[in-house]
Amino acid sequence: MVALSIIEAANTARATDSAAGRPYVAVVAGGTSGIGMYAVQQLARTHGQAGKTLSRGLRLYILGRRASDELLQSCRELCPFGQFTFVQAKDLSLMKDVDRVCEEVIAKEREASLKEGHPAKIDLLVESQGILHFGGREDTPEGLERPMAIAYYGRARIVDRLLPLLTQSVTPAAPGHVAFVMNPQLEGNIVEADLSLRNPKNFTLRNRGSHLSIFTTFYMEALAARNPGTLALVHYYPGGVKSNISETSSLGFWMRAAFRVAMPLMRITQVPEDESGKRVDFLGETSVYPPLNYKVTPGGATAKVPVGKGADNKTGSGCYRINWDDDVLKFNDKAAAYRAKGMADTIYQHTQRAFEVIASGKKFTE
Ligand SMILES: NC(=O)c1ccc[n+]([C@@H]2O[C@H](COP(=O)([O-])OP(=O)(O)OC[C@H]3O[C@@H](n4cnc5c(N)ncnc54)[C@H](OP(=O)(O)O)[C@@H]3O)[C@@H](O)[C@H]2O)c1
Repeated sequence: MVALSIIEAANTARATDSAAGRPYVAVVAGGTSGIGMYAVQQLARTHGQAGKTLSRGLRLYILGRRASDELLQSCRELCPFGQFTFVQAKDLSLMKDVDRVCEEVIAKEREASLKEGHPAKIDLLVESQGILHFGGREDTPEGLERPMAIAYYGRARIVDRLLPLLTQSVTPAAPGHVAFVMNPQLEGNIVEADLSLRNPKNFTLRNRGSHLSIFTTFYMEALAARNPGTLALVHYYPGGVKSNISETSSLGFWMRAAFRVAMPLMRITQVPEDESGKRVDFLGETSVYPPLNYKVTPGGATAKVPVGKGADNKTGSGCYRINWDDDVLKFNDKAAAYRAKGMADTIYQHTQRAFEVIASGKKFTE
């Protein structure tokens, strides 16, 4: 477990690291609620507490469906010199909407950075959009299974679209970071002959959870390998955290009632909201989660925290599976067997094909 005091000190050090260039730019998808929103608020708090003179400055893009004046107002109160922009998503399970939202982020960032005289860039991208879904298969008009489309394909497409800004480090001291809030512990079997689980026999909740999880890790690994020195990625399990997910997902009456009954009990073991936000923001820490082939300079707030072991069990390999307490999760032997067969690249190619087919206006049927 990385102690919360270390997390707080490291987050402040990153917010005030003048060598890493001004300002710190973050994008939080699913930033309007729950874990994403806590990460947004803690970023604002950390920079606000550092103060206008010491902070590098903060520019934050919040992506979500429900615009929240209250959230923007609270960010401005926490960090009066920060720039907070809400980018309206309609439905991030549709790649068409993902592309539109990303174009808006890129245009806004280009405009803001031009005014300030630095290249358009993104230091940290957090993706936390997702729903709970226990029902049968439902496909989007683009041919993707809806929960997979929100929590995997849509998230991967956001990284894909924002990659030029994520890898545009102003200095080598500031590589880009990506964190997906999900669950690497669900990694299990891959139905290799039916990656989209179109055969009803293959479409089980277990297989869907496993594909969601292992596709995420493998896509991240493929990106880490393709962007050495410039991009680090984390697949993060947040632990139990209070959120709106059981209310906003289209769960049946009984499932929602069960959540309401269980909620007070779950509170006992949940990660407090503030702590969750700080721990998610820490996933952008280069000294612990560096890109592949990145030379970490030891010392500072994280001097006692080892450089993370990557998903492939190699230290500092650029893609990390991280537990709620910011520790590296136990190495997954099953995933290792798939990796040895080249499945990370297979998943990357499958995902790119889905993007290409959908971008050409066709339905993905593979
Ligand atoms: N909370 C936990 O204990 C826990 C544990 C393990 C894993 N997770 C995972 O963590 C992630 C975040 O969950 P949370 O608990 O923070 O949930 P949450 O409070 O419901 O937040 C989910 C976010 O996703 C956005 N979203 C959902 N569907 C969307 C869509 N179709 N298009 C665009 N945005 C969409 C929501 O936007 P709007 O609010 O603007 O609609 C919201 O900002 C999920 O993937 C969840 O599975 C959560």
